[in-house]
Amino acid sequence: MVTRYNNCDLSSRNTFRMKVKCALYVEVTAEEDLQALDWAALPQPVLVLGGGSNLLFTKDFPGTVMHVAICHSERSEESVTCGAGVVFDDFCAWAAAEGLWGPENLSLIPGEVGASAVQNIGAYGVEAKDIIADIRAYDRETGQFVQIDPATCGYGYRTSKFKTEWKGRYVITAVTYRLSRTPQPRLDYGGVRKALEEMGGCEPMLTPSLVREAIIGIRRQKLPAVEEVGSAGSFFCNPVISREHFERIVAIARADNGPDYEVPHYDTPGGVKVPAAWMIDQCGFKGARNGGAQVYPGQPLVIVNASGTASPQEIIGLEQQIIQTIERKYGITLHPEVEHV
Ligand code: EPU
Repeated sequence: MVTRYNNCDLSSRNTFRMKVKCALYVEVTAEEDLQALDWAALPQPVLVLGGGSNLLFTKDFPGTVMHVAICHSERSEESVTCGAGVVFDDFCAWAAAEGLWGPENLSLIPGEVGASAVQNIGAYGVEAKDIIADIRAYDRETGQFVQIDPATCGYGYRTSKFKTEWKGRYVITAVTYRLSRTPQPRLDYGGVRKALEEMGGCEPMLTPSLVREAIIGIRRQKLPAVEEVGSAGSFFCNPVISREHFERIVAIARADNGPDYEVPHYDTPGGVKVPAAWMIDQCGFKGARNGGAQVYPGQPLVIVNASGTASPQEIIGLEQQIIQTIERKYGITLHPEVEHV
């Protein structure tokens, strides 16, 4: 079924709750709808929206916003194929309840299944690409459905070819995730093991549900609930810099915080990853406001629509203040993770 709304208000369809409109909003509920649509007749450009949880509408959108509300799921023994419109956390909750390992560390990430494959969502040492077995999509160039091997998708940190060279070409309709009955807990990141210990969970007894519960606990402590306050999760990517540059950052941090101060960082194959949250915190931005926009006090990597009526310009103003201050202090240019539309 295809549903159309002209001049549609998008505030309930983006988690930042930006009050903007699009010329046309189209929702499809079946694959056939994509083939039956007269694409050339739609107001251009066409933007495919998942849960609207990773973008910032900066102004009214002149074209078509399309939501793929294909929500069926099909299970085989150790995998499940979910329609692109399935809420990603519903899939995580279902897998945990079935005792299946795979997505538990990705619990409570806002958004839908289709976006998980575009954005390569990640948290607590796991990324969507680690569990994606297959992707089904409508190819707008040929008008046909294709299966896409995730190995060809160019997956990286919060990115894929769907965001770059394939942008606008494929409309993802379903994703198949690999699951396992064999325990494979990943606990070595960001306080997961500690949270489990505090809950009384120990390794031989672990279940996906317990890990999910620990992750949900950590996220609820740090991150704003999108039902309560508008945001799009982490606003910036964590930058990777050279070892020499990192040494300069350490010197600056020690001048500020004392000679024994340790700068949080992760060594990666490309260099040293320094948490953007740390730099934003060091520059005193925790809780900073620009009109209705605010740097979230619990996790400064997140910008929130604190008043509920923040304008895109207020969010962008705060973003620019952060970028410029960090550039001046550390010589690092932060890049937004949130897509600006
Ligand atoms: N930190 C501070 N001050 C703070 C908060 C954090 O200095 O107020 C420092 C700490 O050293 C902390 C470090 O920043 O160890 C990293 O913080 P955290 O572990 O919360 O994770 P992150 O690197 O800020 C990333 C993802 C999150 C994901 C978490 C957990 C990105 C852009 N963000 O954040 O993803 O949930 O790791 O894996 O990679 C999202 O994409 O929307 C998202 C929330």
